[in-house]
Amino acid sequence: MSEGASPGQEVPLYEGLLTTRAIRRYTDEPVPDEVLRDILFAATRAPSGSNRQPFRFIVLTDGPVAREAKRLLGEGARGFWAAKRKADGYDEGSGADVDSPKARMARTMQHYVDTYESVPVLILACFVHYRHTNYTDGASVYPACQNLLLAARALGYGGVMTGWQFAADAELRALLHIPEEVDLMATITIGRPQGRHGPVRRRPLPELVYGEQWGQAPAWAVDPPGAEHTAAGPPTAS
Ligand SMILES: Cc1cc2nc3c(=O)[nH]c(=O)nc-3n(C[C@H](O)[C@H](O)[C@H](O)COP(=O)(O)O)c2cc1C
Repeated sequence: MSEGASPGQEVPLYEGLLTTRAIRRYTDEPVPDEVLRDILFAATRAPSGSNRQPFRFIVLTDGPVAREAKRLLGEGARGFWAAKRKADGYDEGSGADVDSPKARMARTMQHYVDTYESVPVLILACFVHYRHTNYTDGASVYPACQNLLLAARALGYGGVMTGWQFAADAELRALLHIPEEVDLMATITIGRPQGRHGPVRRRPLPELVYGEQWGQAPAWAVDPPGAEHTAAGPPTAS
């Protein structure tokens, strides 16, 4: 356990699962190498098919290559978000009210992409092919990504996974000397959160868990007291 991780102050596992939210605002504090080691160690302990461990992580902090990667992804992120903001109607309906969840989300996203170049740590999750592309390839990488985010949470940090690597795939490959048999699967940023973590809000348990028939929740599928909910997907225009 690293010094930066404050031994004895880690978040209990189950509590961590329920409070690991997407964190997109970070302080300027750098993430110490020992913390990065602990986070990446946990990520790389994730399961994969036949334990082949085809995941690789490129961790970028503050060198010239890291700065260029952040610039490339920042440009891509701003393009993605501008299109999504319009397509998903973030500024319409309740989004016109600056205090609405929709407007708050739009502000957070705008701040995230506008300051992308200053994220403390940028991590590219990669997949090394060992057979023809298969629809389950991601299943051997994304558990490691979630382990990474949970470990960050456990150690007082936070992050978010995005698919923005697609916006600069060719440029990142050239910059980072990524071989042809490797796919870029996810882009994760990590840092010390500005503000607090949880609680995670999702749909009520009976909407998501079924028993003997599709759509029929078993009697035990009830949310614990205090559970907070939200509808799925992007905001609607209302
Ligand atoms: C497959 C996947 C793709 C995602 N893509 C993006 C993205 O492109 N941009 C972004 O800001 N967040 C992205 N996220 C983060 C989700 O928006 C976030 O996990 C979700 O809204 C729940 O947020 P919460 O945990 O704070 O409640 C992605 C998450 C996953 C699992």
